[in-house]
Amino acid sequence: MRKLTERAIKALPRQNAEQIKAIVNDLVDGNKVLETVLSSLPAGIMVSDINHDLLFINTQARRFLKILGRDFLEKKIWKAVQDKDISRFIQLNLLSQERIDGEDFNIQVGNKVKILSISILPLVDRGTIKGSFISLEDVTEKRAESLRLRRAESLASLTTLAAGVAHEIKNPLGSISIHIQLMQKCLNSENEVCKAEFMDYLNVVNEEVDRLNQIVVNYLFAVRPMDTNPKCRCINGLIEELIDFIHFELEQDSIEIIKNLEEGLPELKLDDKLIKQAFLNIIKNAQASMSDKGGLLKISSYKVNDTVAVSITDSGPGIPDDIKDKIFEPYFTTKDSGSGLGLTLVYKIMKEHSVEIRLNSIVGKGTDFTFIFPIPQKGQKLIGWDGENNEF
Ligand SMILES: Nc1ncnc2c1ncn2[C@@H]1O[C@H](COP(=O)(O)OP(=O)(O)O)[C@@H](O)[C@H]1O
Ligand SMILES: [Mg+2]
Repeated sequence: MRKLTERAIKALPRQNAEQIKAIVNDLVDGNKVLETVLSSLPAGIMVSDINHDLLFINTQARRFLKILGRDFLEKKIWKAVQDKDISRFIQLNLLSQERIDGEDFNIQVGNKVKILSISILPLVDRGTIKGSFISLEDVTEKRAESLRLRRAESLASLTTLAAGVAHEIKNPLGSISIHIQLMQKCLNSENEVCKAEFMDYLNVVNEEVDRLNQIVVNYLFAVRPMDTNPKCRCINGLIEELIDFIHFELEQDSIEIIKNLEEGLPELKLDDKLIKQAFLNIIKNAQASMSDKGGLLKISSYKVNDTVAVSITDSGPGIPDDIKDKIFEPYFTTKDSGSGLGLTLVYKIMKEHSVEIRLNSIVGKGTDFTFIFPIPQKGQKLIGWDGENNEF
């Protein structure tokens, strides 16, 4: 369309009045089609120039923001918006030229409250910022759906946890019951020797009560929401600190540490303490798997597209296929004195950080846990109309 306009403008001096009228009519028709298309979109669209004056607004945006008439065209865009919060938000972000990737606002449409997600992008033509593009999306249903999913998910994990607790408390309860019966027998008997036995039974009951207490404490720890305090930092520094802390213990078990940390990685948003705890749990499991014969523990960090990956690999016996699905479940352990909560915590911490966990384990060869961290997006992404494919 723009190429056509440019060609028409160039040819203008050579055209007569009739021809110019035809060109203008063509342009008006083209514009009408464009406006119809933009106004039929389910999303609201507003475009402002470099001075933040409103250049274009489609029907949906007018409906969302209750903007009537054409008085607001070529005035500051935020002055057109009645809702004070949205108006202030647009003004602040346009003036600071921040890119906003969807901020939610509640708005009243008819007699319903809707959630409006507003994004702001700089509008770029041939490398220079020409204004801003604001898009408004009704995300009411989307948000409700993700809330439903989150609820279902936490309910499902609570059920698994509750089943785990029920299973765990069976043994100590059974043992307490047997020992109380034995104590009753002692009390009923005339035999003096029984006093010593009574004390033994009482000790067992005490220990079992401690075990029950530990199960409840662990349960609460697994279900409680996590308090995270994420800050930007380099993941390599964190890994180095962790290795400093753990290397003596690993060397004592004849485990060699191999570091392969890529330099110049972008900073990530992390809760230092929690991520260290998660990596420590993974390393502890690796150490336990190799404690008999020793082996290799490899820790690597590297960038892949918009992510940073951290891999922790051991040369232990590997995880059999039939338990791979279970290892993150609370209380799942193959160790005599394992808590089965190490990987549950890893899962929880990584979820809090939007980190994807990949497990690759081959029996007889070893286990690799790879964590894919998102790189926080700071820079401005630009929306442009230059180039062949982006023409209006
Ligand atoms: N690196 C590993 N090599 C082999 N098995 C592992 C490894 N990491 C985890 N596992 C398996 O996953 C189970 C669960 O681990 P975890 O949740 O940390 O609980 P725990 O260490 O108390 O058993 C372990 O008991 C073990 O069977
Ligand atoms: Mg563990």
